[in-house]
Amino acid sequence: MGPDLVVQGDNAVVLPRLPDAAFTMVYIDPPFNTGRPQRRQELSMLRSADGDRVGFSGQRYETIKGALHTYDDAFSDYWAFLEPRLIEAWRLLTPDGTLYLHLDYREVHYAKVMLDAIFGRSSFLNEIIWAYDYGARTKRRWPTKHDNVLVYVKDPAAYHFDTAEVDREPYMAPGLVTPEKRELGKLPTDVWWHTIVSPTGREKTGYPTQKPEGLVRRMVAASSRPGDWVLDFFAGSGTLGAVAQRLGRRFVCVDENPQAIEVMARRLPTAKFLGTSEI
Ligand SMILES: C[S@@+](CC[C@H](N)C(=O)[O-])C[C@H]1O[C@@H](n2cnc3c(N)ncnc32)[C@H](O)[C@@H]1O
Repeated sequence: MGPDLVVQGDNAVVLPRLPDAAFTMVYIDPPFNTGRPQRRQELSMLRSADGDRVGFSGQRYETIKGALHTYDDAFSDYWAFLEPRLIEAWRLLTPDGTLYLHLDYREVHYAKVMLDAIFGRSSFLNEIIWAYDYGARTKRRWPTKHDNVLVYVKDPAAYHFDTAEVDREPYMAPGLVTPEKRELGKLPTDVWWHTIVSPTGREKTGYPTQKPEGLVRRMVAASSRPGDWVLDFFAGSGTLGAVAQRLGRRFVCVDENPQAIEVMARRLPTAKFLGTSEI
């Protein structure tokens, strides 16, 4: 077992160099579909015709994919970008492992179709809604104040999930429950109210897309054990690494942006920093 790692490089190049079934939990928060053409970079791997996965039959998946590609050019590029990386995520998960894919409401439904194909529909565990409340409120529609996190397990019969490790929330109507229950708090549901990273708070790194540790902590706590390896290959400011360190997990964080690496060098000083060619 080596040290915790931060790798600078395109994850399409880095991921194939990591060993099969090494990570109990993968959290990724990819850049959202920006409309700009993404580089079409294929990973050196093939979708196994049936393999171990029990997703859509190849035929049906290809039809859906073809239809989506005709319908939305920008999405076609995004799909080409995301799909091979999600296939890698599947390969890298341990048999009891879990993927958390953090997206926004514009991408999540397409990604659900893609993950159903890659992991199998029966491997879909949850869609977590992260609800927050900040910024302007449009009057032209319901202001959108949430992100979506799709949760897929590699094996629906054998995944690790431990709610005893998760922080609990205050009851909405504390007067209606016993003092013991009130004291203990309630187990979170699939809707998580959590503030964004405060611009003045301790957690702030200055990285623009930084996510709150509180969200990622729940995921790591429930879906991995102390000593397990966890992975974020769109790591940004290294939120997953920071949480993993505090919870006694081992981590690999990957990002191609030099600014992200600078932030992680400050935030994760005990990790080993490598370039793509060094792994
Ligand atoms: C939304 S941010 C992640 C933020 C992170 N969750 C945090 O809490 O700071 C997405 C990150 O993906 C990185 N990224 C985009 N494409 C990449 C690629 N092909 N390989 C590696 N990193 C990539 C970007 O540099 C960016 O830092």
